[in-house]
Amino acid sequence: MKVKNICCIGAGYVGGPTMAVIAQKCPEINVTVVDINEDRIAAWNNEDVEKIPVYEPGLPAVVKEARGKNLFFSTNVDAAIDAAELIFISVNTPTKTYGIGKGMAADLKWIELCARQIARVSRTDKIIVEKSTLPVRTAAALREILDNTGNGVKYQILSNPEFLAEGTAIQDLLNPDRVLIGGDVQSTEGQEAISALSGIYEKWVPKSKILTTNVWSSELSKLTANAFLAQRVSSINAMSELCEVTGADVTEVAKAIGMDSRIGSKFLNSSVGFGGSCFQKDILNLVYIAQSFGLKEVAEYWEQVIIMNDYQKKRFAANIIQTLYNTVSGKKITILGWAFKKDTNDTRESAAIYVVDHLLNEEANITVYDPKVQSEQIFSDLDYLKSRSKEANRSNLKVVHDPYEACKNSHAIAVLTEWEEFKGYDWERIYQNMLKPAFVFDGRNLLDIQELIKIGFVPKGVGKPE
Ligand code: NAD
Ligand code: UGA
Repeated sequence: MKVKNICCIGAGYVGGPTMAVIAQKCPEINVTVVDINEDRIAAWNNEDVEKIPVYEPGLPAVVKEARGKNLFFSTNVDAAIDAAELIFISVNTPTKTYGIGKGMAADLKWIELCARQIARVSRTDKIIVEKSTLPVRTAAALREILDNTGNGVKYQILSNPEFLAEGTAIQDLLNPDRVLIGGDVQSTEGQEAISALSGIYEKWVPKSKILTTNVWSSELSKLTANAFLAQRVSSINAMSELCEVTGADVTEVAKAIGMDSRIGSKFLNSSVGFGGSCFQKDILNLVYIAQSFGLKEVAEYWEQVIIMNDYQKKRFAANIIQTLYNTVSGKKITILGWAFKKDTNDTRESAAIYVVDHLLNEEANITVYDPKVQSEQIFSDLDYLKSRSKEANRSNLKVVHDPYEACKNSHAIAVLTEWEEFKGYDWERIYQNMLKPAFVFDGRNLLDIQELIKIGFVPKGVGKPE
């Protein structure tokens, strides 16, 4: 099948950047990204490309090049489905917040809605591509929905999970470690669908990096990759506490083990805890799947990664309280960074939310500065936890747009996102305007501790000797 029109359902952090890159690399294909969220689509169509809804280095330039030529953002989902030979489903698959599997299973409500809409609208054969991260065997459910419409349209279902990380999405998309395509490798139609999708990526990805598997392996590989990555962070974070009580330095330990090529050096940065919309959600999903098959030990093994991460966030907040003479009530604490990592405006599951929630429970006065996150987002993240009234969140937390203002008269500063700009601040000036002792809790081991000590600060990193 020759693909001339692509539809992507879901204009989020994955759908937007991924389709922008496909459109840029395949000028002969029309790519339409659709979403039910009108504001989001309007933002993707904003004339000023710097105002698109996803902050991602390099993305505005790609959008600028393709938008209006062969890249379109629209709310007309039916029309885009009808016109496409290939449809990516890239909608959200969050953890269920109700019913069976609440707090564990992935909520596949939006996936099913997409399948039903595709089944209703389609008049020609289509390749359906799972881009969202899904529980293993979801393709079987999609097939049942799609094959029961009676309109004679034939569907091929592929799994093509996305491995991009936020903040480096464009680089990851342009130069992926691999592209994974799961399909019905046994049938001719399945193989044709796989080569149609592979042909798109081959425009810029070497063929040797395009991996073909059966559908279940592909679906499960995505959950497995995230579980392994998150497990590394929890493993080094577990070691960070041991470092703090023994005088070892977690950065030195990470370097020493990372030089072993069997371990590797990436994803060994100890931190206040991992965040983001996916690690926790995908591991919980994995745990739920293992439980559903009665695999108790497998489920418990992976659940420990989340337990360790929750502990790390709590431990960080508790350390601030304990260091500030066991009370933060009425004290100004400055939070530098709210995003779950640098170079993104995404705050989903950010460690900052939980650390601050803990500090607000202890009646701290919080001031937040983040270079890319809007204040409404910060308040809505806290409101979502329902720990206190919306009014209380607004009276006890202030968002400011100037880091020096944020740090003025503060009892302590906590660095919760590793934004590069924090390193370049005039720390001497910040010190002069703070209460003494001037505590800095560096949840990212970002700042130069020796420099801070020279200035007069009392800095505390994660996994650093006293
Ligand atoms: P997102 O919430 O940013 O975007 C999803 C979009 O889908 C939303 O704008 C929503 O309005 C839209 N949507 C939902 N149902 C719809 C429907 N029926 N019709 C049209 N639009 C609909 O989510 P995201 O971060 O882009 O993640 C999407 C999927 O990709 C998830 O499964 C996630 O696990 C996976 N993933 C995310 C990342 C990441 O870095 N964020 C990386 C790899 C994989
Ligand atoms: C992660 C994976 O890296 C992607 O491959 C995957 O596609 C994506 O999830 C997804 O499925 O959504 P992302 O969450 O965007 O990407 O960002 P990461 O760089 O993985 O960071 C996740 C969290 O772990 C962040 O809070 C980060 O600060 C933290 N982290 C990461 C550490 O604390 N230490 C590290 O060494 C690495």
